[in-house]
Amino acid sequence: MYEPLVPATLAFSENGIPFSIQYGDIYHSDGGGPGQARHVFLAGNRLPERWRDRDHFAILETGFGASLNFLATWQAWRDDPQACRRLHYLSVEKHPFRADDLTVIQAAWPEFVELAAELRAHWPTLTPGLHRIEFAGGRLVLTLLLGDAAKVLTQLQARVDAVYLDGFAPGKNPDLWSADVLGQIGRLANTDATVATWSVSATVRTGLQQAGFSVEKTPGFASKRQMLVGRFSQSRSQPDLPSELGAYRTYDESAANPPERSIFHRFFGQ
Ligand SMILES: C[S@@+](CC[C@H](N)C(=O)[O-])C[C@H]1O[C@@H](n2cnc3c(N)ncnc32)[C@H](O)[C@@H]1O
Repeated sequence: MYEPLVPATLAFSENGIPFSIQYGDIYHSDGGGPGQARHVFLAGNRLPERWRDRDHFAILETGFGASLNFLATWQAWRDDPQACRRLHYLSVEKHPFRADDLTVIQAAWPEFVELAAELRAHWPTLTPGLHRIEFAGGRLVLTLLLGDAAKVLTQLQARVDAVYLDGFAPGKNPDLWSADVLGQIGRLANTDATVATWSVSATVRTGLQQAGFSVEKTPGFASKRQMLVGRFSQSRSQPDLPSELGAYRTYDESAANPPERSIFHRFFGQ
């Protein structure tokens, strides 16, 4: 059954940080959004180093939110002369912002002004499902999976090299950190994939370990004493996809004939 998306409602905390009334939590650290993106998600996944001298590299994010991690990643990739030829950024989001609301939020990040404007210029109509947007002449591919992570991740076939876990606090947003969602992350992880998150909650640590990641605590950002990083440490439980690691497809599992209904996307085919 078709379920329309419910976009995010624009609101701010007392100190001016984007805030979700629905989840009762802020969208990024009050110690600074771009700084958190770089410390927790980029450095936590050892980027840019790990994408260097690679032909392609894929990142999966839970919670696209206000686009902060995407913009920080895009800027780091654009400014890196040794960056992988092609970068794939896949992100799931249940409540996307409208383009006008993104304009208001992104005004707080002058360092991303050009990239943010380009993102908004290509912002999709907010319908459920997969939206693929190309930047930098097709060398940067943003795949937005709009819908509930618990559902859309099961429909994705991919091999990802780095994972940004960025839901709201696990106690306020448990569905995005559930064992099922983390299990899907493990299913999608490439050999030696890394994961990073600001949360060190026991549920997240256990869920990641059960999904096949070895995890450790490292120094956190700003007021957070610690954060979590991990590496996919198991052999694959299913055969690798044919062709390049980045090939992926989505399909509606409830369809009568899923394979025939597959939408096959090739990350790297020319
Ligand atoms: C902390 S914010 C993400 C911030 C974002 N990474 C950024 O860089 O701006 C958490 C996001 O997770 C989304 N979210 C919460 N539950 C979800 C679910 N079950 N499936 C997909 N997205 C979800 C929220 O709508 C919100 O945008």
